[in-house]
Amino acid sequence: MIVAPSILSADFSRLGEEIKKVAEAGADWIHIDVMDGNFVPNITIGSCVVRSIRKDVDLPFDVHLMIEKPEKHFMYFVDAGADFITVHVEATKSLYRLVKEISKHCKVGVALNPATPLCSIENIIDEIDLLLIMTVEPGFGGQKFIESMVKKVEKAKEMIGRRKIYLSVDGGVNDKNAPLLKKAGANVLVAGSYIFCSKSYEEAIKKLKI
Ligand code: DX5
Ligand code: ZN
Repeated sequence: MIVAPSILSADFSRLGEEIKKVAEAGADWIHIDVMDGNFVPNITIGSCVVRSIRKDVDLPFDVHLMIEKPEKHFMYFVDAGADFITVHVEATKSLYRLVKEISKHCKVGVALNPATPLCSIENIIDEIDLLLIMTVEPGFGGQKFIESMVKKVEKAKEMIGRRKIYLSVDGGVNDKNAPLLKKAGANVLVAGSYIFCSKSYEEAIKKLKI
């Protein structure tokens, strides 16, 4: 299981330190939530922050763009050091072109909001490296996991079949639902509040690495 702490729940006044701390505690990737106040209500991190934390760790940067018109902005994040760029299918009118463009520069992921069906990506599945199933409505950390999404993860796994695509889950992930998600086929768990609000990052990460 790949564990990707979402830095949205980190202490932003000590971001570099927090990232080093989760890396030492066993994180595999760093998940970076970029929000624009349009696609989602919240505004978070821009590419200059990504660039400045790039020097703090060597782990892959998993950049989750929750922004409108990702085609206009993704290159800034590539240049800032993203290893994965994940875009929402709901945020662009030309998903195929966008996915092909991103894949020229780094690994590419697509994300689905809870209400968006899996069939929306069936025609581009051969072009992606990662599929991100949202298990909360995107926009904020610390929300409650939507239980019915476990079935969606299971169906996504079936759809992926033998393809080499990461199946990632994001939103309300904790030690209670991690075993269900693993059984359903997830191989990347994104977790924000569960890790950053815990007393020991190491213990929390260990409990997700099942
Ligand atoms: C939600 C973000 C998530 C979020 C996860 O919009 O995409 O990555 O930070 O945080 P938790 O684990 O607290 O739900
Ligand atoms: Zn995210």
